[in-house]
Amino acid sequence: MPTILAIESSCDETSAAICRDGQILSNFIANQTVHEQYGGVVPELASRAHLQHIVPVVHAALEKAGTSLQTVDAIAFTQSPGLIGSLLVGAQFAKSLAQSLNKPLIAVHHMQAHVLANLIDDPKPDFPFLCLTVSGGHTQIVLCESPTRMKVIGETIDDAAGEAFDKSAKLLGLPYPGGPLIDRYAKEGNPERFRFPEPQIPGLNFSFSGLKTSILYFLRNAGKSNLYKEEFLATEEEKQIFIQKNLADICASIQQRIISILLNKVKKAAIETGIRDLCLAGGVSANSGLRKAFEEMGTKYQWRTFIPAFQYCTDNAGMIAMTAYYKFLDGQFSAPDITASARAEW
Ligand code: KG4
Ligand code: ZN
Repeated sequence: MPTILAIESSCDETSAAICRDGQILSNFIANQTVHEQYGGVVPELASRAHLQHIVPVVHAALEKAGTSLQTVDAIAFTQSPGLIGSLLVGAQFAKSLAQSLNKPLIAVHHMQAHVLANLIDDPKPDFPFLCLTVSGGHTQIVLCESPTRMKVIGETIDDAAGEAFDKSAKLLGLPYPGGPLIDRYAKEGNPERFRFPEPQIPGLNFSFSGLKTSILYFLRNAGKSNLYKEEFLATEEEKQIFIQKNLADICASIQQRIISILLNKVKKAAIETGIRDLCLAGGVSANSGLRKAFEEMGTKYQWRTFIPAFQYCTDNAGMIAMTAYYKFLDGQFSAPDITASARAEW
């Protein structure tokens, strides 16, 4: 019955969770609002905010779980990938704590943890399953054979899906992060009204940069074309009027294209591998259009679909704790000289 304290600090959320025997007892997340005014995450401010939040967040997680540090059997932390300054705060905190309590340390790969968020609540997928992980930094299709054996079988060659949402929103003049706003406006819009191109990328990889360029020209041309042509160029005022009048339809059409790019590759992966249990993970899985289309695809092809609860989709320590639980059972502990890494292979 191991009790694990896990810490996540890879980007701009400081989070701590307690997991006992594979059950998440608490998952406390402190969001950093300081970045909003800059239109994106500022790495140094993120590190400083982690330093500020980490002690109260760990206390809150212990308190919510009704437990204390004395009952903890191992300390887990996100080792990679992420912003290096942010990762170092969590790594150093976890190492010091493990050292002072004389408990083992478990380093966790953030992207593996996003996938295993699907094992937190019931119903759970059977192995092997496929997982589409979509966040602000990543877009991957992962084939998961066991909690400790998984491989990336498709990924983006340029922007991540969350970036595609956020960059499109920025072109529309919406504040950061724009993904949730596109989702909100899209609910009122007609997704068939405007057509954006679907990239022809071989295999199971994704690309979103062409979509971004086509939206840029489409708006510069006030909707007359997706292509760059001098004769279509609109004035700034014409562009703003066009956006104002058509915002819901533009958002719905962009969202529909991002979803079709994602799900066409998931469909291809499911057909090629014959795997019938499909999962979603990452912050973009909060998108209501994606959730609906993912479930409809499952119903149509008789595949089982799984989406973690919202608190386990965005960055959180619950998923780190869950992954650490399986590593604990497998005896995968980390050496005391382990460090954090901005990028690391699985
Ligand atoms: O996983 P996450 O919380 O953080 C990391 O990037 O690791 O994902 C954040 C991304 C942002 O790009 C945000 O715009 C996007 O998820 N996002 C959404 C929605 N909610 C969050 N995108 C579209 N629709 C949403 N409802
Ligand atoms: Zn993440």
